[in-house]
Formats: sequence, C-alpha cells, structure tokens
Amino acid sequence: MSPQAPILCVVGARPNFMKIAPIMRAFSSQGIPATLLHTGQHYDADMNDAFFRDLGIPQPDINLGVGSGSHAQQTAEIMRKVEPILDEQAPAAILVVGDVNSTIACALVASKKGVPVIHVEAGLRSRDRTMPEEINRVLTDQISDLLFTTERTALDNLKQEGIDPARVHFVGNVMIDTLHYNLRQAKPTAQTLAELGMETTLIGSDTPYGLLTLHRPSNVDDPAVLAPLVDCINQIAADLPLVFPVHPRTRSRLEAFGLLERLDPHRIICTPPLGYLELLGLMKSARIALTDSGGIQEETTALGIPCITLRHNTERPITVTEGTNTLVGNDPQRIIAALKAALKPTSRPERIPEYWDGNAAERIAAILKPWLSAGISGQNTAPHA
Ligand code: UD1
Repeated sequence: MSPQAPILCVVGARPNFMKIAPIMRAFSSQGIPATLLHTGQHYDADMNDAFFRDLGIPQPDINLGVGSGSHAQQTAEIMRKVEPILDEQAPAAILVVGDVNSTIACALVASKKGVPVIHVEAGLRSRDRTMPEEINRVLTDQISDLLFTTERTALDNLKQEGIDPARVHFVGNVMIDTLHYNLRQAKPTAQTLAELGMETTLIGSDTPYGLLTLHRPSNVDDPAVLAPLVDCINQIAADLPLVFPVHPRTRSRLEAFGLLERLDPHRIICTPPLGYLELLGLMKSARIALTDSGGIQEETTALGIPCITLRHNTERPITVTEGTNTLVGNDPQRIIAALKAALKPTSRPERIPEYWDGNAAERIAAILKPWLSAGISGQNTAPHA
C-alpha cells in the first residue's frame, strides 16, 4: 500500500451527503488525499443532485449507479460493483458513514479484501432489529477498524459488543457540522414554496407551521398504520398548518393505498423531496417537527426546535436526554398529546450535546493523519491483498 493512496469515501443515500460534505472539506484542508465513490442508491435529482450542489460536495470520482431494488438486490449489486474498484484503486482505507445499505455493502467488501474500514457515526443503537438500519449499524461496526462516534453512549454500546475501545474516538456530529456551515444560507420557507410554484396564504412570514416528514417502512408500508396516521396528521393540521416534503417511498405508498387525496389540501402543503437549504429553512422556522428521520431528530436538537418522533425508539438517545426530542411511536392519541405538551412554553432544560459544535470533521481528520502515516498497523484487518 502506497503512503500516498487516498481514502475512498463512500456515499449512497440522501442522509450520507450531509455527513460526507464536511469530511471531504476537512480532508482537503488537512491534506488527506481522498476519492469519492457514489453507489447510486439514491439517484433522483431531488434526492441527489441538489445536495451535491448545495453542500459543495465534489462530483463523485466513481458512480456505481446501482439504483433501487430489494435490500438483498441493492446490497449485493453494490458489493459486486465495488469489488473491482477496490482492486483498481488500492485505497489506504475506505470511509463509510451512517447506516444505509451502501454503508454495510462497501464495508463488507473492503474488510474481506483487507482494506481498513473507517466508520463515521458508529455505535448508535436503537435495539430494534426490525429496522434495516440497525442491522447495518451493528455489522458495520463489527468489521470497522476505526470508529468515530457522535455521542458518548455509543462507546458503551460498542464495548458491549466486544469492540476494542482503543479503536473508538468520540468526535461529535458531522451532520451538525453541515448544519452550522449552512445555517445562514438556509432558504426562507415562503421562497421555497414560491420557487416550487406553491405560493400560499397558509404560511406567511410569521404564521406558525409544523414540518412533517415520514419515510420509515414501519410507518408507511402498512395501510393499517398509515391510514390512522393520515387522519391524525389532518387533525394536527386543523390547528397548525403543516409542510410535508414527501419521500418517494411515502408518496408511492400513499398513492397505492388511496391515501394521498385524504390529506387535507387546505392545511397541508405536500412538496417533493427538498434540497438541504430548503429543508433547513423549513426546519429553522418551524414551530415543531413531526418526523421519523434520524437526521431531523439531531438537527432539531441543534436548532432548539421541539421534535415529535413517530418511532418507539431512537438510536440517538442524546436528542431525548439533552435535546428537544420526544419519542411517541405511531399511536395517534399519543402523538396529539405529545404535540400539545411540546407546544406549551417549557422549563425543560435543553442543551446542545457535547462536541456538536461544527468541528467534528476536523477532529476526524486530525485523528486520521497520524493513523494513516503509522501505516494503519495493529488494526482489525489483514494486510491489503
Ligand atoms: C434509505 C435508507 C434510510 C434513509 C433513507 C433516506 C437504507 C436501508 N435505508 O431508505 O436509512 O433514512 O434512505 O431517504 O439504506 N427512490 C426513488 N428515488 C431515489 C431513491 C429512492 O424513487 O432517488 C425510491 C426507491 O425506488 C424505493 C424507495 O424510494 O422504492 C426507497 O428507496 P431506498 O433507497 O431503497 O430506501 P429509503 O427508504 O430511501
């Protein structure tokens, strides 16, 4: 392995883009050579292109173009296509972020080829093995050589799974690096809606509104869950208008179950998936967020916006213990009760979690530099074949 070999950085799906942007910037500023590989897991312009543009991510050096499929198909296709790239490029290491199928697929191929694996956002656990992301998290951490964590509880999780704490570094949250970096460019909600041709009197500059996002299979794939959720959303929207950027998975399920028309068009503004600066603007000015996204739980904590999470668990517990997050599951009565409580003026002390300060990627780069020049010795992996 050449000491000059770059780190191969992997992205695949939307939440990866916000995480890789500050890492690529820090690598560039600290002189760490890196190449960017996109698996193509997300490919629609509004799930993909807008993020590269808004976040200033360099165009990928390699795009595997895998697209959609079942989990097995998608994961297998990424593995099949990334193997020859690792042979050709012989990178110093592979860096994967988060918990999507692209993360585990690339990490698994690399680890079997003796390419050291670096995992950013390691150690988060929902303890819900029905979530595909939880499987991806556990397995990726097991085969990673160097693990960077966003909150201190992650180390306890990793130790319980037998991972050597010497390989784990608490650096903070790269997603929040991106939030800090872009906050001033966040697009005002009225402008976003106007640019989409969705001018409305519902949301003026001072009118309170809520932000809604939904895409977890547990919420959207079963009509017996999704239909009552739609009714609950309508009930909430009667008091607080909602802006709802609709994920492609959710749109297709709403259409298939005949529920799209049931959403109250006078109180709920359904938009296509939004770019980062648009969503940040929407979130920043929202009275509250209702979501099942992992990233939005973190971003609302960083912004001090109340967040009602439509899940029974979270792999990001610090957003509950220190931040603004409340877990409610998908029972309509609980959602409405939590919303009312969250909208009351609160004395709940909220803190910005430790190291969620905009400098996580710089910490990662600073740790990686000596690690790389030490020849990545004493790691999990066999020497690169
Ligand atoms: C994936 C991640 C999830 C993440 C989410 C963010 C996994 C296991 N899940 O879930 O952790 O929170 O991304 O969006 O990796 N589709 C499009 N256009 C696209 C991308 C997807 O239409 O650009 C459609 C697909 O055809 C598919 C559906 O959306 O029907 C789901 O896409 P997929 O990437 O499989 O999973 P997500 O649900 O997006």
